[in-house]
Amino acid sequence: MRKMEGSTVDSESEDDEVQRNEGNNSELPGKEPPERGRILLEVENLKKYYPLKGGIITHTTGYTHAVDGVSFSVREGETLGLVGESGCGKSTIGRQIVGLERPTEGIIRYDGKDLSAMKPGELRQIRTQLQMVFQDPYSSLNPRKHIYEILAQPMLYHHIATKATVGKELERLLDMVGLSRNVLGRYPHEFSGGQRQRIGIARALSLNPRFLVCDEPVSALDVSIQAQILNLLKSLQKELNLTCIFVGHGLGAVNYVSDRIAVMYLGKIVEIGKAADVFRSPAHPYTKALIAAAPVPDPEKAGQERKLLEGEVGSSQEPPSGCRFHPRCPFAQESCRQTEPQMREVKPGSGHFAACPVANGKEARAHG
Ligand SMILES: Nc1ncnc2c1ncn2[C@@H]1O[C@H](COP(=O)(O)OP(=O)(O)OP(=O)(O)O)[C@@H](O)[C@H]1O
Ligand code: SF4
Ligand SMILES: [Mg+2]
Repeated sequence: MRKMEGSTVDSESEDDEVQRNEGNNSELPGKEPPERGRILLEVENLKKYYPLKGGIITHTTGYTHAVDGVSFSVREGETLGLVGESGCGKSTIGRQIVGLERPTEGIIRYDGKDLSAMKPGELRQIRTQLQMVFQDPYSSLNPRKHIYEILAQPMLYHHIATKATVGKELERLLDMVGLSRNVLGRYPHEFSGGQRQRIGIARALSLNPRFLVCDEPVSALDVSIQAQILNLLKSLQKELNLTCIFVGHGLGAVNYVSDRIAVMYLGKIVEIGKAADVFRSPAHPYTKALIAAAPVPDPEKAGQERKLLEGEVGSSQEPPSGCRFHPRCPFAQESCRQTEPQMREVKPGSGHFAACPVANGKEARAHG
Protein backbone atom coordinates (compact mmCIF):
# COMPACT_ATOMS: atom_id res chain seq x y z
CA MET A 1 0.00 0.00 0.00
CA ARG A 2 1.26 3.44 -0.84
CA LYS A 3 -0.23 6.72 0.26
CA MET A 4 -1.26 9.56 -1.98
CA GLU A 5 -2.89 12.80 -1.06
CA GLY A 6 -6.46 12.22 0.04
CA SER A 7 -6.35 8.52 -0.54
CA THR A 8 -4.93 5.12 0.06
CA VAL A 9 -4.07 3.16 -3.05
CA ASP A 10 -3.51 -0.55 -3.47
CA SER A 11 -1.86 -2.26 -6.39
CA GLU A 12 -3.74 -4.18 -9.06
CA SER A 13 -2.20 -4.11 -12.52
CA GLU A 14 0.78 -2.70 -14.38
CA ASP A 15 -1.48 -0.22 -16.16
CA ASP A 16 -2.68 1.05 -12.85
CA GLU A 17 0.88 1.29 -11.57
CA VAL A 18 1.83 3.62 -14.46
CA GLN A 19 -1.13 5.86 -13.76
CA ARG A 20 -0.38 5.97 -10.05
CA ASN A 21 3.27 6.81 -10.63
CA GLU A 22 2.33 9.63 -12.97
CA GLY A 23 -0.25 10.87 -10.52
CA ASN A 24 2.27 10.82 -7.75
CA ASN A 25 4.59 13.13 -9.71
CA SER A 26 2.48 16.07 -8.60
CA GLU A 27 3.69 15.33 -5.08
CA LEU A 28 7.40 15.48 -6.01
CA PRO A 29 9.06 18.70 -4.81
CA GLY A 30 10.25 19.60 -8.33
CA LYS A 31 6.71 19.36 -9.66
CA GLU A 32 5.10 21.44 -6.91
CA PRO A 33 3.32 24.48 -8.34
CA PRO A 34 4.87 27.54 -6.65
CA GLU A 35 1.63 28.60 -4.96
CA ARG A 36 1.52 25.39 -2.94
CA GLY A 37 2.62 25.71 0.69
CA ARG A 38 3.93 23.01 2.96
CA ILE A 39 1.55 20.52 4.51
CA LEU A 40 0.25 21.76 7.88
CA LEU A 41 -2.32 19.06 8.64
CA GLU A 42 -2.23 15.38 7.71
CA VAL A 43 -5.03 13.00 8.54
CA GLU A 44 -4.30 9.32 8.07
CA ASN A 45 -6.92 6.57 8.13
CA LEU A 46 -9.04 8.47 10.68
CA LYS A 47 -11.87 6.48 12.23
CA LYS A 48 -14.49 7.46 14.78
CA TYR A 49 -16.94 4.81 15.95
CA TYR A 50 -19.59 5.78 18.50
CA PRO A 51 -20.90 2.91 20.65
CA LEU A 52 -24.62 2.16 20.49
CA LYS A 53 -26.11 1.31 23.86
CA GLY A 54 -29.05 -1.01 24.39
CA GLY A 55 -30.67 -3.53 26.69
CA ILE A 56 -31.79 -3.25 30.31
CA ILE A 57 -28.23 -3.43 31.55
CA THR A 58 -26.77 -0.87 29.19
CA HIS A 59 -24.21 -2.55 27.02
CA THR A 60 -22.71 -1.88 23.60
CA THR A 61 -24.87 -3.39 20.88
CA GLY A 62 -22.97 -1.99 17.91
CA TYR A 63 -21.21 1.10 16.59
CA THR A 64 -22.04 4.10 14.47
CA HIS A 65 -19.25 4.31 11.91
CA ALA A 66 -19.30 8.12 11.80
CA VAL A 67 -15.87 8.42 10.14
CA ASP A 68 -14.49 5.26 8.64
CA GLY A 69 -10.94 5.49 7.34
CA VAL A 70 -10.42 8.98 6.00
CA SER A 71 -7.07 10.34 4.76
CA PHE A 72 -6.25 13.81 3.47
CA SER A 73 -3.84 16.67 3.95
CA VAL A 74 -4.17 20.45 4.04
CA ARG A 75 -1.40 22.82 3.03
CA GLU A 76 -0.55 26.00 4.89
CA GLY A 77 -2.82 28.85 3.79
CA GLU A 78 -5.19 26.49 1.97
CA THR A 79 -8.94 26.02 2.50
CA LEU A 80 -10.24 22.49 2.10
CA GLY A 81 -14.01 22.24 1.73
CA LEU A 82 -15.85 19.21 3.14
CA VAL A 83 -19.27 18.43 1.65
CA GLY A 84 -21.79 15.65 1.86
CA GLU A 85 -25.29 14.90 3.08
CA SER A 86 -26.33 15.18 6.70
CA GLY A 87 -24.77 12.53 8.93
CA CYS A 88 -21.86 11.61 6.63
CA GLY A 89 -19.29 12.55 9.30
CA LYS A 90 -18.18 16.09 8.41
CA SER A 91 -18.51 17.60 11.91
CA THR A 92 -17.03 14.49 13.47
CA ILE A 93 -13.84 15.02 11.46
CA GLY A 94 -13.77 18.67 12.57
CA ARG A 95 -14.20 17.76 16.23
CA GLN A 96 -11.35 15.21 16.09
CA ILE A 97 -9.03 17.77 14.51
CA VAL A 98 -9.61 20.51 17.08
CA GLY A 99 -9.45 17.96 19.92
CA LEU A 100 -13.05 18.07 21.14
CA GLU A 101 -13.08 14.27 20.75
CA ARG A 102 -10.43 11.58 20.42
CA PRO A 103 -10.28 9.40 17.30
CA THR A 104 -11.04 5.68 17.58
CA GLU A 105 -8.14 5.02 15.21
CA GLY A 106 -5.84 6.88 12.85
CA ILE A 107 -3.35 9.71 13.01
CA ILE A 108 -3.84 13.45 13.01
CA ARG A 109 -0.51 15.10 12.37
CA TYR A 110 -0.32 18.86 12.84
CA ASP A 111 2.82 20.74 11.84
CA GLY A 112 4.60 17.39 11.51
CA LYS A 113 3.62 16.16 15.00
CA ASP A 114 1.22 13.34 15.87
CA LEU A 115 -1.32 14.98 18.21
CA SER A 116 -2.11 11.72 20.02
CA ALA A 117 1.57 11.23 20.92
CA MET A 118 1.97 14.67 22.53
CA LYS A 119 2.38 15.29 26.24
CA PRO A 120 -0.62 17.08 27.85
CA GLY A 121 1.24 20.40 28.31
CA GLU A 122 2.47 20.51 24.71
CA LEU A 123 -0.96 19.45 23.45
CA ARG A 124 -2.67 22.24 25.42
CA GLN A 125 -0.38 24.76 23.81
CA ILE A 126 -0.86 23.36 20.29
CA ARG A 127 -4.61 23.23 20.75
CA THR A 128 -4.82 27.02 20.86
CA GLN A 129 -3.63 27.00 17.24
CA LEU A 130 -6.57 24.83 16.13
CA GLN A 131 -9.93 26.55 16.59
CA MET A 132 -13.50 25.99 15.45
CA VAL A 133 -16.34 28.22 14.26
CA PHE A 134 -19.65 26.47 14.95
CA GLN A 135 -22.84 26.26 12.93
CA ASP A 136 -25.14 27.69 15.56
CA PRO A 137 -23.62 30.90 16.91
CA TYR A 138 -26.27 31.14 19.63
CA SER A 139 -25.77 27.79 21.34
CA SER A 140 -21.99 28.05 20.99
CA LEU A 141 -21.83 31.26 23.06
CA ASN A 142 -22.40 31.16 26.81
CA PRO A 143 -25.64 33.16 27.33
CA ARG A 144 -24.63 34.17 30.88
CA LYS A 145 -21.39 35.85 29.86
CA HIS A 146 -21.13 39.22 28.21
CA ILE A 147 -18.95 39.63 25.15
CA TYR A 148 -16.00 41.01 27.11
CA GLU A 149 -15.83 37.80 29.18
CA ILE A 150 -16.39 35.54 26.16
CA LEU A 151 -13.49 37.09 24.28
CA ALA A 152 -11.11 38.27 27.02
CA GLN A 153 -11.08 35.24 29.33
CA PRO A 154 -9.43 32.77 26.92
CA MET A 155 -6.88 35.42 25.90
CA LEU A 156 -5.90 36.05 29.51
CA TYR A 157 -5.92 32.34 30.41
CA HIS A 158 -3.63 31.42 27.52
CA HIS A 159 -1.41 34.51 28.04
CA ILE A 160 -2.23 35.92 24.60
CA ALA A 161 -2.87 39.23 26.38
CA THR A 162 -2.32 40.74 29.84
CA LYS A 163 -4.79 42.86 31.80
CA ALA A 164 -2.92 45.88 30.47
CA THR A 165 -3.09 44.87 26.78
CA VAL A 166 -6.38 42.99 26.57
CA GLY A 167 -8.40 46.14 25.81
CA LYS A 168 -6.32 46.90 22.70
CA GLU A 169 -6.44 43.23 21.63
CA LEU A 170 -10.24 43.22 21.91
CA GLU A 171 -10.51 46.38 19.82
CA ARG A 172 -8.32 44.77 17.17
CA LEU A 173 -10.50 41.64 17.16
CA LEU A 174 -13.78 43.56 16.93
CA ASP A 175 -12.43 45.69 14.06
CA MET A 176 -11.31 42.55 12.28
CA VAL A 177 -14.78 40.94 12.35
CA GLY A 178 -16.64 44.19 11.64
CA LEU A 179 -18.28 44.73 15.04
CA SER A 180 -18.54 48.04 16.84
CA ARG A 181 -16.25 48.49 19.85
CA ASN A 182 -19.16 49.22 22.18
CA VAL A 183 -20.57 45.67 22.12
CA LEU A 184 -18.38 44.35 24.93
CA GLY A 185 -20.89 44.89 27.72
CA ARG A 186 -23.75 43.15 25.91
CA TYR A 187 -24.95 39.52 26.10
CA PRO A 188 -25.28 37.08 23.15
CA HIS A 189 -29.10 37.31 23.07
CA GLU A 190 -28.84 41.03 22.33
CA PHE A 191 -27.38 40.39 18.85
CA SER A 192 -28.71 39.28 15.47
CA GLY A 193 -27.68 35.90 14.06
CA GLY A 194 -25.08 37.46 11.76
CA GLN A 195 -23.59 39.55 14.59
CA ARG A 196 -23.48 36.48 16.84
CA GLN A 197 -21.57 34.58 14.18
CA ARG A 198 -19.12 37.50 13.98
CA ILE A 199 -18.63 37.11 17.75
CA GLY A 200 -18.13 33.35 17.23
CA ILE A 201 -15.48 34.11 14.63
CA ALA A 202 -13.82 36.68 16.92
CA ARG A 203 -13.70 34.10 19.71
CA ALA A 204 -12.11 31.53 17.39
CA LEU A 205 -9.52 34.13 16.31
CA SER A 206 -8.85 35.41 19.83
CA LEU A 207 -6.09 32.85 20.44
CA ASN A 208 -4.29 33.68 17.17
CA PRO A 209 -4.95 30.27 15.59
CA ARG A 210 -3.19 29.00 12.48
CA PHE A 211 -5.87 26.45 11.66
CA LEU A 212 -9.63 27.03 11.61
CA VAL A 213 -12.42 24.48 11.23
CA CYS A 214 -15.55 26.32 10.08
CA ASP A 215 -18.45 23.91 10.62
CA GLU A 216 -21.33 25.15 8.46
CA PRO A 217 -20.78 28.71 9.70
CA VAL A 218 -23.56 30.19 7.56
CA SER A 219 -26.19 27.40 7.51
CA ALA A 220 -28.14 28.81 10.46
CA LEU A 221 -28.13 32.37 9.08
CA ASP A 222 -30.58 34.32 7.00
CA VAL A 223 -29.77 34.02 3.29
CA SER A 224 -29.26 37.80 3.06
CA ILE A 225 -26.32 37.72 5.49
CA GLN A 226 -24.75 34.41 4.48
CA ALA A 227 -22.70 36.16 1.77
CA GLN A 228 -21.43 38.77 4.26
CA ILE A 229 -20.14 36.10 6.64
CA LEU A 230 -18.66 34.05 3.78
CA ASN A 231 -16.86 37.15 2.51
CA LEU A 232 -15.63 37.98 6.01
CA LEU A 233 -14.23 34.47 6.46
CA LYS A 234 -12.62 34.56 3.05
CA SER A 235 -10.90 37.90 3.64
CA LEU A 236 -9.77 36.90 7.16
CA GLN A 237 -8.36 33.67 5.81
CA LYS A 238 -6.26 35.65 3.33
CA GLU A 239 -5.28 38.43 5.71
CA LEU A 240 -4.18 36.09 8.49
CA ASN A 241 -2.91 33.32 6.18
CA LEU A 242 -5.17 30.85 7.98
CA THR A 243 -5.35 27.21 6.99
CA CYS A 244 -9.00 26.14 7.00
CA ILE A 245 -11.42 23.29 6.71
CA PHE A 246 -14.79 24.63 5.60
CA VAL A 247 -17.70 22.26 6.19
CA GLY A 248 -20.91 22.77 4.24
CA HIS A 249 -23.94 21.00 2.80
CA GLY A 250 -24.04 22.93 -0.45
CA LEU A 251 -21.28 22.70 -3.02
CA GLY A 252 -21.94 26.33 -4.07
CA ALA A 253 -20.82 28.00 -0.82
CA VAL A 254 -18.04 25.46 -0.32
CA ASN A 255 -16.76 26.06 -3.84
CA TYR A 256 -16.78 29.83 -3.22
CA VAL A 257 -14.39 29.68 -0.26
CA SER A 258 -12.33 26.54 -0.94
CA ASP A 259 -9.14 25.81 -2.85
CA ARG A 260 -9.85 22.07 -2.81
CA ILE A 261 -12.98 20.09 -2.04
CA ALA A 262 -13.44 16.66 -0.45
CA VAL A 263 -16.81 14.96 -0.93
CA MET A 264 -17.94 12.56 1.80
CA TYR A 265 -20.43 9.73 1.75
CA LEU A 266 -21.26 7.63 4.82
CA GLY A 267 -18.00 8.20 6.68
CA LYS A 268 -15.68 8.03 3.65
CA ILE A 269 -14.16 10.52 1.23
CA VAL A 270 -15.30 9.53 -2.26
CA GLU A 271 -13.77 12.39 -4.25
CA ILE A 272 -11.14 15.05 -3.59
CA GLY A 273 -9.45 17.60 -5.82
CA LYS A 274 -9.12 21.25 -6.77
CA ALA A 275 -12.42 23.06 -6.19
CA ALA A 276 -12.78 23.94 -9.87
CA ASP A 277 -12.20 20.30 -10.94
CA VAL A 278 -14.61 18.80 -8.42
CA PHE A 279 -17.28 21.45 -8.96
CA ARG A 280 -17.04 21.78 -12.75
CA SER A 281 -15.92 18.28 -13.73
CA PRO A 282 -17.14 15.99 -10.96
CA ALA A 283 -15.98 12.40 -11.44
CA HIS A 284 -17.82 10.37 -8.80
CA PRO A 285 -21.50 9.57 -9.45
CA TYR A 286 -22.34 10.80 -5.94
CA THR A 287 -20.71 14.21 -6.52
CA LYS A 288 -22.54 14.48 -9.85
CA ALA A 289 -25.81 13.69 -8.11
CA LEU A 290 -25.11 16.27 -5.36
CA ILE A 291 -24.48 18.97 -7.96
CA ALA A 292 -27.54 17.99 -10.00
CA ALA A 293 -29.69 18.12 -6.86
CA ALA A 294 -28.48 21.59 -5.78
CA PRO A 295 -30.62 24.69 -6.31
CA VAL A 296 -29.51 26.57 -9.45
CA PRO A 297 -28.36 30.16 -8.75
CA ASP A 298 -27.95 30.99 -12.48
CA PRO A 299 -31.23 32.65 -13.65
CA GLU A 300 -30.70 31.29 -17.19
CA LYS A 301 -30.68 27.75 -15.84
CA ALA A 302 -33.29 28.36 -13.14
CA GLY A 303 -36.02 26.77 -15.24
CA GLN A 304 -34.09 23.53 -15.56
CA GLU A 305 -35.32 20.66 -13.48
CA ARG A 306 -33.28 19.70 -10.42
CA LYS A 307 -32.50 16.00 -10.31
CA LEU A 308 -33.14 15.01 -6.74
CA LEU A 309 -30.83 12.44 -5.26
CA GLU A 310 -32.96 9.33 -4.92
CA GLY A 311 -33.01 6.80 -2.09
CA GLU A 312 -32.05 7.03 1.55
CA VAL A 313 -28.49 7.54 2.75
CA GLY A 314 -27.55 4.08 4.04
CA SER A 315 -27.07 3.26 7.70
CA SER A 316 -23.79 4.29 9.29
CA GLN A 317 -24.35 1.44 11.78
CA GLU A 318 -24.38 -1.18 9.06
CA PRO A 319 -22.87 0.51 6.02
CA PRO A 320 -23.59 -1.13 2.64
CA SER A 321 -20.95 -3.60 1.45
CA GLY A 322 -18.47 -2.70 -1.28
CA CYS A 323 -19.11 0.82 -2.50
CA ARG A 324 -21.33 2.44 0.11
CA PHE A 325 -23.14 4.43 -2.57
CA HIS A 326 -24.18 1.33 -4.56
CA PRO A 327 -27.84 1.16 -3.38
CA ARG A 328 -28.41 4.64 -4.87
CA CYS A 329 -26.01 4.59 -7.80
CA PRO A 330 -27.47 4.38 -11.33
CA PHE A 331 -24.17 2.83 -12.58
CA ALA A 332 -23.85 0.15 -9.89
CA GLN A 333 -22.81 -3.29 -11.07
CA GLU A 334 -22.25 -6.55 -9.22
CA SER A 335 -18.61 -5.80 -8.39
CA CYS A 336 -19.66 -2.55 -6.69
CA ARG A 337 -21.60 -4.57 -4.11
CA GLN A 338 -18.59 -6.69 -3.30
CA THR A 339 -15.42 -4.65 -3.60
CA GLU A 340 -14.72 -1.34 -1.96
CA PRO A 341 -13.39 0.99 -4.68
CA GLN A 342 -10.00 2.58 -3.99
CA MET A 343 -9.10 6.20 -4.64
CA ARG A 344 -7.54 6.70 -8.08
CA GLU A 345 -6.37 9.83 -9.78
CA VAL A 346 -8.89 10.91 -12.42
CA LYS A 347 -6.27 12.50 -14.68
CA PRO A 348 -2.57 11.90 -14.07
CA GLY A 349 -0.94 14.74 -12.17
CA SER A 350 -4.23 16.55 -11.52
CA GLY A 351 -4.45 15.77 -7.81
CA HIS A 352 -8.12 14.96 -8.51
CA PHE A 353 -9.05 11.58 -7.02
CA ALA A 354 -12.28 9.58 -6.99
CA ALA A 355 -13.20 6.23 -5.47
CA CYS A 356 -15.13 4.76 -8.38
CA PRO A 357 -13.98 2.72 -11.37
CA VAL A 358 -16.68 4.39 -13.48
CA ALA A 359 -15.06 7.74 -12.77
CA ASN A 360 -11.75 6.32 -13.91
CA GLY A 361 -12.43 5.45 -17.50
CA LYS A 362 -12.88 1.92 -18.78
CA GLU A 363 -16.09 1.05 -16.98
CA ALA A 364 -17.54 4.48 -17.76
CA ARG A 365 -17.34 3.68 -21.45
CA ALA A 366 -18.79 0.24 -20.80
CA HIS A 367 -21.74 1.90 -19.04
CA GLY A 368 -22.22 4.25 -22.00
N1 LIG B 1 -21.61 12.08 20.06
C1 LIG B 1 -22.16 11.20 19.24
N2 LIG B 1 -22.62 10.00 19.68
C2 LIG B 1 -23.17 9.10 18.85
N3 LIG B 1 -23.30 9.25 17.52
C3 LIG B 1 -22.85 10.41 17.00
C4 LIG B 1 -22.27 11.44 17.82
N4 LIG B 1 -21.94 12.49 17.02
C5 LIG B 1 -22.30 12.14 15.77
N5 LIG B 1 -22.84 10.91 15.75
C6 LIG B 1 -23.32 10.18 14.57
O1 LIG B 1 -22.22 10.14 13.66
C7 LIG B 1 -22.68 10.33 12.32
C8 LIG B 1 -21.97 11.53 11.71
O2 LIG B 1 -22.38 12.70 12.40
P1 LIG B 1 -21.85 14.16 12.02
O3 LIG B 1 -22.44 15.11 13.00
O4 LIG B 1 -20.38 14.12 11.91
O5 LIG B 1 -22.47 14.37 10.57
P2 LIG B 1 -22.45 15.66 9.64
O6 LIG B 1 -21.93 15.23 8.32
O7 LIG B 1 -21.74 16.77 10.32
O8 LIG B 1 -24.01 15.98 9.50
P3 LIG B 1 -24.76 17.42 9.41
O9 LIG B 1 -24.55 17.89 7.99
O10 LIG B 1 -26.19 17.09 9.68
O11 LIG B 1 -24.16 18.35 10.42
C9 LIG B 1 -24.19 10.48 12.41
O12 LIG B 1 -24.78 9.23 12.16
C10 LIG B 1 -24.43 10.91 13.84
O13 LIG B 1 -25.69 10.49 14.29
S1 SF4 C 1 -18.20 2.12 -7.47
FE1 SF4 C 1 -20.05 1.39 -8.48
S2 SF4 C 1 -21.73 1.90 -7.07
FE2 SF4 C 1 -19.95 3.06 -6.42
S3 SF4 C 1 -20.21 5.03 -7.36
FE3 SF4 C 1 -18.93 3.80 -8.75
S4 SF4 C 1 -20.35 2.80 -10.16
FE4 SF4 C 1 -21.56 3.60 -8.47
MG1 LIG D 1 -22.35 18.64 11.04
